[in-house]
Amino acid sequence: PSPSPFSKGKVVDVHTHMYPPEYVKILESRTTIPLVRSFSSASDPRLILLEAEVPLLDSSAAASSADSGSDSGPSSSSSSSAVLPGRPLTQHYSSLSQKIHFMDTHGIDISVLSLANPWLDFLPAESAGPIAHSINSEFSAMCAAVPGRLFFFAALPLTSPQPTILSAIAHAASLPFCRGVILGTSGLGAGLDDPALLPIFSALAASSLTVFLHPHYGLPNAVWGPRAAENYGHVLPLALGFPMETTIAVTRMFLAAVFDTVPCLQLLLAHSGGTLPFLAGRIESCIAHDGYLLRAGKLAPQRKTLWEVLQTQIYLDAVVYSDVGIAAAVAATSSSSSGRAEGGKGEDRLIFGTDHPFFPPLETGEHGQWESVSLNVAAVKKALGEGTEAAEKVMGGNAVRVLRLYQDEKEK
Ligand code: URA
Ligand code: ZN
Repeated sequence: PSPSPFSKGKVVDVHTHMYPPEYVKILESRTTIPLVRSFSSASDPRLILLEAEVPLLDSSAAASSADSGSDSGPSSSSSSSAVLPGRPLTQHYSSLSQKIHFMDTHGIDISVLSLANPWLDFLPAESAGPIAHSINSEFSAMCAAVPGRLFFFAALPLTSPQPTILSAIAHAASLPFCRGVILGTSGLGAGLDDPALLPIFSALAASSLTVFLHPHYGLPNAVWGPRAAENYGHVLPLALGFPMETTIAVTRMFLAAVFDTVPCLQLLLAHSGGTLPFLAGRIESCIAHDGYLLRAGKLAPQRKTLWEVLQTQIYLDAVVYSDVGIAAAVAATSSSSSGRAEGGKGEDRLIFGTDHPFFPPLETGEHGQWESVSLNVAAVKKALGEGTEAAEKVMGGNAVRVLRLYQDEKEK
């Protein structure tokens, strides 16, 4: 379909990643995760990101050194060499023309790009600042190259000293197509409830930069058990580890009163907030029944509840693959649910996304329709109705409003 980026009814994807070539080079030079490694048995190099992939990385390394040994008999060749760690690193991760092709194939008018996990979290303090500057400039150049189609969330050099992080925020805010930053859950290393992050959150809020909060670290491998790495693929860490990680990170921010301290902070949560819409009631009840919080004076009747935070400071992406999750996300962020916030409808706080280039179709080729996308589109239609105003807002209207996706700088 021909793009109509500034007309009514446009489709916007706010959850769509890239690794620019410069970042891929960094991954290729590494020996610990995150890394890119080639295997003789696979045509594409493999992208190995997650702690849950490390057991297979170790066993494939052991298998290939055994294979190359001249005296390795049949008994020493490992069957685990058949299961490669990670995922194929295809053109979809770093090519701008592939991104545009994917958008055109799926009727997406505008994409808000972000660097994929784990961003710049692993870089040495000295190099993180310059690399952030260069990668954010690269994203900006990609947006400028395809007028009207692209905006982006910047990456921050979180391992660097605070002044470097603050100047990266100022740089991001100066880039015409930047509308926020993508952030993992580790923050400066101690999580997002770290008081040392408050100046960062304040600077982001003051620059009207939305924080796109995205998981990466999951849960410890022990939670998945000894059979997972070899037998269950990536299902447990991606389907459960990621959403729990997001849920825990936001709950910690809430318990640390980050949303009170920085009331203008706006978060966009990946994967519809993990399990937050479903668990908000339980979290609130555990707070209300906590003797320590009572004695510490943290249960004042006028305190901001998690429901109010969901209704005023949080947007949820619609990357949840089922109408059940969409309905929960809409209900949790609506002022008709348990909160006291004025006005808002949940359908104003939910925003379509794809998670491209992750979750490609495995058997039908990557150039056509992606089922991971059609599942998310179908979920919105089933929960909110086809062609309804609510569905149109989720598919693009909310993104344009919340992230100010107008090409003209003056409208920003
Ligand atoms: N796997 C990842 O590592 N990141 C995503 O965004 C999705 C799947
Ligand atoms: Zn993602």
